[in-house]
Amino acid sequence: MKTFVVKGNLCFSRSMDELVCMEHSYIVVEDGRAAGIFRTLPERYAQLPVLDYGEQLILPGMTDLHVHAPQFAFRGLGMDMELLEWLNTYTFPEESKYKELEYADRAYSSFVEHLLHSTTTRAAIFATIHVPATKLLMQKLDEAGLSCYVGKVNMNRNSPVYLREISTNQALRDTESWLCETKEAYRNVKPILTPRFTPSCTDELMSWLGKLAAERGLYVQSHLSENKGEIAWVKELCPDCAQYWESYDRAGLWKDHTVMAHCVHSNEDEQALMKKNGVFIAHSPESNMNLASGVAPINKFLDNGLRVGLATDVAGGSHESMLRAMTHAIQASKLRWRLYDQDVKPLSFERAFYLATMGGGAFFGNVGSFLEGYEFDAVVLDDASLDHPQELSARARLERAAYLADDRNLTAKFVAGQKILG
Ligand code: GUN
Ligand code: FE
Repeated sequence: MKTFVVKGNLCFSRSMDELVCMEHSYIVVEDGRAAGIFRTLPERYAQLPVLDYGEQLILPGMTDLHVHAPQFAFRGLGMDMELLEWLNTYTFPEESKYKELEYADRAYSSFVEHLLHSTTTRAAIFATIHVPATKLLMQKLDEAGLSCYVGKVNMNRNSPVYLREISTNQALRDTESWLCETKEAYRNVKPILTPRFTPSCTDELMSWLGKLAAERGLYVQSHLSENKGEIAWVKELCPDCAQYWESYDRAGLWKDHTVMAHCVHSNEDEQALMKKNGVFIAHSPESNMNLASGVAPINKFLDNGLRVGLATDVAGGSHESMLRAMTHAIQASKLRWRLYDQDVKPLSFERAFYLATMGGGAFFGNVGSFLEGYEFDAVVLDDASLDHPQELSARARLERAAYLADDRNLTAKFVAGQKILG
């Protein structure tokens, strides 16, 4: 891959509390990775081609650590219920449509097109139980150049017959063949094991998935402690588990790089075990508001060294924008602090930016920053349309862009050094 230089107003995290904004600066990209950042380009790089973005803001690409591709079609609808009723009323009927490849083709084209024109460069995605539609989604994401983990969803109990794997054996066969067909099939897209959540999967299915994860070195994604009714239900379904996380652990699914969405109501023990086992938390603030789930204590998770990323959780969340997810995370944390817990301070802008970039990017390796050695995932934002009469620093413009920018402000996008847009 070529070596080249990108110039503009660079904004990136060094750590969760350190946001660096370097105006009119240079980043050297070598073999898809950041090789150095400079205020003045060193002589040894003078011959390299320069992509000069002028006054525009250049930020690391963002990671959406939890999003449901098949739910994109009903985003912004059905926000009048809590989780379990919402799943039965809106979500399961919509997801059943992906049995038809023609519908999946139209719906997934729309999802991928929107994702491509967002600040997201990487994502951990739920599909549905249907293998052909899931493969189609993976192919479309790969063609777009986005770097993703995609899961064929497993669910074989407590869902309507029209959206349930007909037997555990069938679930196993389908998952096996899907893994075989997709493990090495794409450049940027990989499969991830995806038991929907404990209520949807029998013990037998969960254990088999855990064995598969260990044998094949596969990552796992699911949901955890999102809603109080859900937690009470898991207690009934798994009387041997004192806490929700144990229903994953006893099946071998609670391990390094497992992504657990939500964790709104995780108690101290559950939090400690997430840290101990290297589990990632996908914080989905808008979804947690829409489904009246609550607000997770994200600053506490970060202070205690847990791995946290940010997520849209479409269609619990209404929008694919990770910029919106950042501002929702800040706003939700303020209400949480004001209304019921003064021990956990509101999220700073620095931390929200970190969550959207480095925090979730860590799931993919050295991703989500411009520090040396990080994969060069970047988005270029032209905020000229967000006019203002006063002089603003790049840092101030970045904060405004998080609140005000949309896909019209995105002018270019890179994933691992490849330009995929602009
Ligand atoms: N728990 C199980 N399935 C889902 C889902 O589709 N969305 C959310 N937000 N939570 C879930
Ligand atoms: Fe979800």
